[in-house]
Amino acid sequence: MNTNILNITAREILDSRANPTIEATVILEGGACGSASVPSGASVGKYEAHELRDRDPKRYGGAGVLSAIHGIENIIAPSLIGMSATDSAEIDAVMQKTDNTENKSNLGANAILAVSLATARAASVALGVPLYKYLGTSGEIKLPVPMLNILNGGAHASNNLEIQEFMIVPVGIERFSERLRAGSEIYKKLASILRSRGYSTSVGDEGGYAPNLSSDTEACELILEAIEAAGYDTDKVKIALDVASSEWYDKGEYKMAKSGKVYTSGELCDYYSALVERYPIISIEDGVGEEDYEGWKNLSARLGDKIMLVGDDLFVTNEKRVKMGIDMGIANSVLIKPNQIGTLTETLRVIKTSAECGYKPIISHRSGETEDSFIADLAVATRAPYIKSGAPCRSERLSKYNRLLAIEAEILK
Ligand code: PGA
Ligand code: ZN
Repeated sequence: MNTNILNITAREILDSRANPTIEATVILEGGACGSASVPSGASVGKYEAHELRDRDPKRYGGAGVLSAIHGIENIIAPSLIGMSATDSAEIDAVMQKTDNTENKSNLGANAILAVSLATARAASVALGVPLYKYLGTSGEIKLPVPMLNILNGGAHASNNLEIQEFMIVPVGIERFSERLRAGSEIYKKLASILRSRGYSTSVGDEGGYAPNLSSDTEACELILEAIEAAGYDTDKVKIALDVASSEWYDKGEYKMAKSGKVYTSGELCDYYSALVERYPIISIEDGVGEEDYEGWKNLSARLGDKIMLVGDDLFVTNEKRVKMGIDMGIANSVLIKPNQIGTLTETLRVIKTSAECGYKPIISHRSGETEDSFIADLAVATRAPYIKSGAPCRSERLSKYNRLLAIEAEILK
């Protein structure tokens, strides 16, 4: 099968928040083709690669991506035509060189990533192997534990919860399908509990419920009730939080976006320590801000031996920032969002570096998603221990979990 690139096309599609995004298709000389689409964040880290948008207020409030698509068809495509789709590293290097900026601001990380992922998918189709096998090495296949975001707050919902994500993590359950079943059963029980207390069960951007609650501790209590009501216990199912606290950071202080309450970094650490004492919390993401390195040191000293401390805005899937964090001894886990960095090659490299240094990689969706399930294959290929894809609700979240069910079925055959 000839894997040389014949053509690359792209179009504007809509993501799960009705914002335009890019879908690219890579067509190979042998007839195989692969498409991929890219997601978009709401709580975007300061050091993320650049997402190119048109800024034309007459279309989609300025969020159109026609300029990025123009770049794919008129600049990227001519530079890649004739190259083999199996040479991902070469292809990504050519795009980075053509862009010629540190943060991919000329062509846009959204344009580059769409082509990078579509190329890998086209190659896997041409070679007749599942994407996870194409991306990964051989050996025993392991499926990730899902971190299911069942209560949404922060920038993902218009309720009063300051913490962005309250997740359940079925770490004590063996099979992926049974982990997902636990996630679904607990999610449904949580709805009944919320309804019985007169709370709303409408959902936020990642499919979790978004009620107005009295406090973060009430959120944790309700989750514990739901775990028990569904017939599970906290040996099997734990809690994880994504605080997304960079959203609150303002000149050395943390000013909560909704209540206006102000905390110092030290007070936040005290607060998390108390929460970890009281609840079966195994992971806190972005507990302090992306540039609050002293705060990260303090948090890591206090909780780094007990739970996962995940850097999302802190690391932005960027190898340089992960290495900086490792040198400083801060955090112990790395959130992996391919669109924060903009190529498959760099994403694979940062996963490898993190894992080699004992930092756990967690493969993640964005709050604005598409039905593309690429990250499910990526998680399996890299043997990542965890995947974050929101609640077991809304098809753009489920496409990843359902893809993992399909992979599990395939390997158990
Ligand atoms: P985002 O949120 O996609 O809106 O950045 C996800 C996260 O913070 O993990
Ligand atoms: Zn996050």
